[in-house]
Amino acid sequence: MNLEEAKSKLEKYGQEHVLKYYDELSESEKTALLEQIDDTDFSILENCKNLGKGGERGTFSPLSAMELSEIEANKEKFTKIGVETIKAGKVAAVLLAGGMGTRLGSDNPKGMYDIGLTKPVYIFQRIIENLLDTVKQADGSYIRLFVMTSEKNNDATVNFFKEHNFFGYPEEKVTFFKQEMAPASDYDGKVYMEAKGRISTSPNGNAGWFSSMLKAGLDDILHKEGIEWIDIFAVDNVLQRICDPCFVGATVSSNVEVGAKVVRKNAPDEKVGVMCLEDGKPSIVEYYELSQEMMDAKDAKGDPAYNYGVILNYMFNEKALERIASENLPLHVVEKKIGHIDENGNEVKPESPNGCKFEQLVLDMIHMLNSCLPYEVVREHEFAPIKNKTGVDSVESARELCRKNGIEL
Ligand code: UTP
Repeated sequence: MNLEEAKSKLEKYGQEHVLKYYDELSESEKTALLEQIDDTDFSILENCKNLGKGGERGTFSPLSAMELSEIEANKEKFTKIGVETIKAGKVAAVLLAGGMGTRLGSDNPKGMYDIGLTKPVYIFQRIIENLLDTVKQADGSYIRLFVMTSEKNNDATVNFFKEHNFFGYPEEKVTFFKQEMAPASDYDGKVYMEAKGRISTSPNGNAGWFSSMLKAGLDDILHKEGIEWIDIFAVDNVLQRICDPCFVGATVSSNVEVGAKVVRKNAPDEKVGVMCLEDGKPSIVEYYELSQEMMDAKDAKGDPAYNYGVILNYMFNEKALERIASENLPLHVVEKKIGHIDENGNEVKPESPNGCKFEQLVLDMIHMLNSCLPYEVVREHEFAPIKNKTGVDSVESARELCRKNGIEL
């Protein structure tokens, strides 16, 4: 794209400020900026006006979960099926590590955060240790691990794994890929500039993982290795059970397109997304969308009908993913802290949210599928998310949960 073309594209979307420092840039910076303008989809910025507003939703109804008692009664059977499926090489794992972890506020990828007290214990290390538990259960069958990064944290992530010898995992079983980026803007939809020659961007949400895998040509590996199930999970849950054989077995034998690990809610109004049906298809209703009537609704046993919150650990059927790969996912506008340069060209690192990022979310992928098994897990054993430095879902609370589970820090 040449300068004139860039100018007219920016004008169309009211983003002329992007070229404010153009004349000060070196030739290579000029080329890079023109390329970025060419690649950027500015049309998404008008979604800023939807900040704080949810999209149109359908009619919700309950979706019952496989509860702990049923899992316990079938544990041996499910685990055997799961172990066989893993040993046959049909299960892969995808670590979603493309996020910016802005709430934790570290400049490094979140997985590099050290939660140790007496020795270093990195989040990535905890994830690999958890995966190795499964490998052990599957008699040493290593699971293919894909790690999604973004252009912002890819090099740091890859180098960190290398420096630490992949925390004991075989390097040839780990494949990194980068997710797509989206522009970030102020509340009026004007893109921020992260440098004089670069528009601020951020990863486009955690639903980008499958399309980014396809873009990176990784379906070759999926097909060559005969991978039929993919367990995706967040980087920040340090008690995460990955490709847990019992969960694999329950999902495979339930004949569903996706299994979702869920925890029983602490209170009817707990701030978690809840599994349900929406217009008859699996879906997740956000806590702020739950009506009083839904909170009060009871199932046949007299328990709350909308009682299971998702923890971002899903076992997807690979064929089902390929079927929905070409469908468009809705865009969510989220309020975040966005680093940028101010009108004088000085760098700003905001302390509080200052604008909008645009993300596609995994929960919308669930709604594209025909069937889902919510699978109950014990919160205290499997859910220790690290979102913040202190308080709720923090390094502190995760440390406490690790301690309760006998993990030395
Ligand atoms: P969060 O929604 O908690 O976002 O991600 P975040 O970016 O890590 O943290 P904040 O909100 O800025 O503090 C949940 C999971 O999804 C991944 C994250 O890495 C985390 O594992 N994720 C999120 C991606 O892989 N890509 C994204 O674009 C966003």
